[in-house]
Amino acid sequence: MKNIVKRILPEYVVSLIRNLILVKRLYPAYLYDLKRFYRYSGTDGHGDETKLIEKIITKYHIIEKGLTMPSSRLGFGKDVIIGLSSLCLEFSRKYDSKDEQYLHAIGVILEYKRFHEVNNFELNKDIIKAITKIEGLMSISPTQQLSFEKDDFFQYKNSEFLTFSNSRMSVRNFDENEEISQETLDNVLNLAKNAPSACNRQTWRTYIITDKTSVGRVLEAQGGNRGFGHLANKVIIVAGEVGGFASPGERNQVFIDGGIYAMNLLYSLHYYNIGSCILNCSHSVEKDMKMREIIDLKQSEVFIAMIAIGIPPKNFKVAISKRYSIEHTNKYS
Ligand SMILES: Cc1cc2nc3c(=O)[nH]c(=O)nc-3n(C[C@H](O)[C@H](O)[C@H](O)COP(=O)(O)O)c2cc1C
Repeated sequence: MKNIVKRILPEYVVSLIRNLILVKRLYPAYLYDLKRFYRYSGTDGHGDETKLIEKIITKYHIIEKGLTMPSSRLGFGKDVIIGLSSLCLEFSRKYDSKDEQYLHAIGVILEYKRFHEVNNFELNKDIIKAITKIEGLMSISPTQQLSFEKDDFFQYKNSEFLTFSNSRMSVRNFDENEEISQETLDNVLNLAKNAPSACNRQTWRTYIITDKTSVGRVLEAQGGNRGFGHLANKVIIVAGEVGGFASPGERNQVFIDGGIYAMNLLYSLHYYNIGSCILNCSHSVEKDMKMREIIDLKQSEVFIAMIAIGIPPKNFKVAISKRYSIEHTNKYS
């Protein structure tokens, strides 16, 4: 039958029919995803506990990052700290005030206040007002972001996995004068490729940006690296080749395999004494197109993430990025 249709109809009609059949197979799968994202993501606000706490985490992490920048700007993040305080007040009214992330958020707000006191900086009165309300909620100690010496930070590279894994953290401070050689990066990439992938398809691709001007352009367009990106020695773009996947069921596999690879790459960088901060490529359509102009990705490839890398300076700070205890995120059945 197929052959008869092919013989009778012109080539372009056959191609059109083939495309329609393909779209008909893919459409329900994407619609299925769209409905879930539309219904349950935080796109429409923070109407339940999960959404609210995720907003709180996002905001306190911005403050954590601000407190650990190579040179933190005094008075930074006015809107964020006021917004965070207001979300914490809302959380305290509505939900369990023993939530670990909520408590950590309060600690970060208090650290922000202490940081400015120690630096004799008078905070804006709206910030003071917001923080005073938080102080009225409970008595809690300020958090303290982590401080490292470079040699200490990498001292566990040959330790057992438990210690090694616990010692990897995002670094947002680099020594501008330290160069990372291609030879070292080749070693990193050779180690990172141990990552597992669906049917061993290895669809990850990396683009290593070395030219200073291009590093600057890419990081500026990414936007989530203010205060430290300008110090990065290189940027690794982690992409994924869609051509490795076929069925509607595999529509997200490129991101899963790419994400697993990206994690292995972070470990590999840490093993080779390279500081790294993975940066999101959660692009809008417009931004994706702009990024493709800058990075010349193949049309068959998608962005997974990018990683700013460099050698840390002698002393630097690292954001705590508190993790939930496993009871919160895991369930046995
Ligand atoms: C996909 C992804 C995107 C991220 N994007 C950014 C970013 O744009 N800017 C940034 O400073 N950190 C970014 N991070 C780093 C996270 O803030 C960091 O991994 C998290 O707080 C855990 O801390 P750790 O890496 O020190 O363990 C990103 C992390 C991931 C996994």
